[in-house]
Amino acid sequence: MNYSIPKHVAIMMDGNGRWGKKRGLTRSEGHYAGAKTMQKIIDACIDFDVKILTLYAFSSENWSRPEDEVNYLMHLPVKFFNQKLPEFMRRNINIRISGNLAALPDPTREALMKAEKKTGNNTGIIVNFAFNYGGRDDILQGIRRVIHEVQNNDMNLDMMDEDLFQQYLYTKDLPDPELVIRTGGEKRVSNFLLWQSSMSELYFTDVFFPDFNKELLYEAIKEYQRRTTLHLTENQKWESTIRG
Ligand code: IPE
Ligand code: IPE
Ligand code: MG
Repeated sequence: MNYSIPKHVAIMMDGNGRWGKKRGLTRSEGHYAGAKTMQKIIDACIDFDVKILTLYAFSSENWSRPEDEVNYLMHLPVKFFNQKLPEFMRRNINIRISGNLAALPDPTREALMKAEKKTGNNTGIIVNFAFNYGGRDDILQGIRRVIHEVQNNDMNLDMMDEDLFQQYLYTKDLPDPELVIRTGGEKRVSNFLLWQSSMSELYFTDVFFPDFNKELLYEAIKEYQRRTTLHLTENQKWESTIRG
């Protein structure tokens, strides 16, 4: 059995709205509950020694939601980081943001940038918030920046390869996630980490994100370990075949 813990876990935190509706609450109350769960999942990842946790919090498609819901989702990071920053500092948590920050309302962008800057020297778990993130936008903005550098003679296009291009993505120096989890029952990629998840194990659960917890995260990690053990055995079989 492969007992190794994935270094980078990415979670599509889906199902907040339906969780609220099921309880006779509003969708926004579902998002609030989701934010509470997020804190528990960060704790669980620290306990499991996951080094990087990426959380899909707002997609580039989520702007098409009703205005009051979008407003609430823009307000959540302000509230969340205002409350949690001192604790994140105390616990050595390094916050990163991946996404198009320029298009956000000022208070939202400022809260996200402040959290990233303030925790920038922390050496503990990296919690990477994908906010106003789209996988296609990620790749396109990377291409635009490369073209810009080539036009300014700052880059020789012959140097470009996958490793170098990765540096132009929103996720920059973060390694690709070994495990991508989607809660909420849908089996879609929904424009998440299109480049970065090319080799990731995908894990889907019907549980709505506010009900996700440490035990369910552990189930996902065990499934990852089981699957990668199978890969290992397949590779070993293959190696013994070619070696005779
Ligand atoms: C995911 O929950 C969180 C965000 C997209 C911000 P949803 O809001 O998509 O909840 P459902 O899928 O409608 O239940
Ligand atoms: C994906 O969930 C985005 C986030 C979790 C932030 P969505 O609910 O927005 O995706 P779709 O609409 O099911 O594709
Ligand atoms: Mg959804």
